[in-house]
Amino acid sequence: MKKIGIIVGVALVVIAGTSGGIYLKHQHDVQAEKARVARVYAASKSKATRAVAKAYASGKTEDVQKAEALVAQLHSKDRKKSQAKLETLKLDLQAIATAKAAVDTLTANLSDDNLTQAQSKIAALTSAYTAKDKATLQQLVNQQKEKLAAQKLAEEQKAKAEAEAQKAAAEKAAQEKAAQERAGQTSSPAIPAGSKLIALTFDDGPNPASTPQLLEILQNAGVPATFFALGQEAQAYPDLIRKEAALGNEVASHTWDHKDLTTLNPTAQQQEILSANHLINQLTGQNVTLFRPPYGAYNASVLAQTNLSAVNWSVDTNDWRYNTPAPVVQNALANAHDGAIILLHDIHSWSVAAVPQIIQTLKAQGYTFVTVSQLLEARYGGAQAHQIYFGQ
Ligand code: NI
Repeated sequence: MKKIGIIVGVALVVIAGTSGGIYLKHQHDVQAEKARVARVYAASKSKATRAVAKAYASGKTEDVQKAEALVAQLHSKDRKKSQAKLETLKLDLQAIATAKAAVDTLTANLSDDNLTQAQSKIAALTSAYTAKDKATLQQLVNQQKEKLAAQKLAEEQKAKAEAEAQKAAAEKAAQEKAAQERAGQTSSPAIPAGSKLIALTFDDGPNPASTPQLLEILQNAGVPATFFALGQEAQAYPDLIRKEAALGNEVASHTWDHKDLTTLNPTAQQQEILSANHLINQLTGQNVTLFRPPYGAYNASVLAQTNLSAVNWSVDTNDWRYNTPAPVVQNALANAHDGAIILLHDIHSWSVAAVPQIIQTLKAQGYTFVTVSQLLEARYGGAQAHQIYFGQ
């Protein structure tokens, strides 16, 4: 009996112990479960955080996608923060990809447009994340930019060389034509005996602002003129000298830079006259042997220094004193006469503007317009060296 009693007692204790134990065990399990869930979440969170870091480090699409999938499982607060980070990363990666593509296009096809595109795409890389790629891409673009500049320079030089070759060919053709004309193979229209002759002369040019218009006026009127050009202006505007000659005008030296020859020593006098004469003949292919002393100022030494003939004028329009065409027209017409050499300046717009009326009126009066050489040929059988001519 005593043994049974003990067993019952133990059983009761066990029962009592068990029921209390179940409660305690329940409490314990809940806490354990909470802790387990927290551990699991912490693990996912840290996994997601590592994935985001990896995506940032690699910049690979698959890593970004993995990170996005992991972040999507996080609680709202953590998720939003990480998603915002990933969105920023995606924008940066997209900008880098766009810039890379633009640089690839530039490298494949070097052009100004592609250079501008690539530079603007690189300029759009402003975040710290893109800084390294930006520097690399910028370096590539700089290399392409240098290449492009070198290409352009080569093209420009090629175009320049071609233009120079064309010019030289045209110059040669003009010289050959002029040589033929001198040889009498193509004759200029003969001047009928008894014609009233008049020579228009234009000094101090050529001038890019006024000479082209004058050339057009003369060409339209079918009238030749004589240009007494300055060497330094001929050097500055050689194409205008060539054009003057090409249109049938005579081009002669007015000295290099318009010094009063009577104030210079003989060597300087010769130098002033001949330097312009040589340059102009070289440009025109003509062999003009006339010169006009600046200010009409000459003396025996001036005439003796070269084998050229000096030419002054018999009608001075005094055009440099005015600034409108009317008095220039008036002075030319009032003093015009057979065999006249009329002095004008193609550097003044009003002088050029006076020319159409001068030509029209003198043509109506029966004048034939000739160059100075043609006039001297017709009246003196040609110009003599060391002589000065004024027009009759
Ligand atoms: Ni002059």
